[in-house]
Amino acid sequence: MHTLAEVRDEPMTADGLVLRRPRPGDADLVHRGTHDPLVREFLQAVVPHRDAAAAEKWLTEIPPMLWETGRAAYFALEDAATGVPVGWAELVDLDPERESAEVAVWLLPEHRRLRTAKAALRLACRFGFERIGLRRIDAFAAADNMPSQLTGAAIGFRRAGYRPALFRSSRTHRLHDAVHATLVPEDLC
Ligand SMILES: CC(C)(COP(=O)(O)OP(=O)(O)OC[C@H]1O[C@@H](n2cnc3c(N)ncnc32)[C@H](O)[C@@H]1OP(=O)(O)O)[C@@H](O)C(=O)NCCC(=O)NCCS
Repeated sequence: MHTLAEVRDEPMTADGLVLRRPRPGDADLVHRGTHDPLVREFLQAVVPHRDAAAAEKWLTEIPPMLWETGRAAYFALEDAATGVPVGWAELVDLDPERESAEVAVWLLPEHRRLRTAKAALRLACRFGFERIGLRRIDAFAAADNMPSQLTGAAIGFRRAGYRPALFRSSRTHRLHDAVHATLVPEDLC
């Protein structure tokens, strides 16, 4: 496994989507995403940005710092044909000993139900395996988040366990049970 500072970080493109490092111009994407009710329900510790300027400041400072210190790889996802940002992906909890990480993806509402999610999750996992050299990627979806679980299963994630009261909704602060699923490079499809 490589440290993030060592990895090739140029964009990765497949299935009409581009996965690339975020930039300050992604402020509208991040501002909207952090206010989206489903993103706030199903991801932990989502802090809604006050406005696009606050999101731009966050993008300028935080993702590069997390990348340089090897703590998290954040990505914007964009439509390869139009260049329009459609969502976000992240590899967090990078563990050099286990050569593992955790993945999460969200799409803006108008880009859901279009079968974009599988391509998005696949690209984030390919980055983890091919560029970082991970041997395992975990995903924790709320038990009532069927689109997330089905998307993972469709690209090769296997169910690894049920974790009661694993994480707190950023929106309602209620605890969600989670389904743990895990992916190894040989299973990615
Ligand atoms: C999770 C997310 C990226 C999935 O993207 P999506 O575009 O909604 O997913 P898709 O439309 O491709 O649906 C995936 C599967 O779930 C099914 N599905 C979609 N909505 C569903 C629903 N409300 N109930 C049950 N199944 C549903 C689809 O039919 C599809 O299954 P299929 O391929 O067998 O037909 C998107 O919903 C999202 O951004 N959600 C908010 C953030 C989030 O929850 N992120 C994951 C955190 S772990």
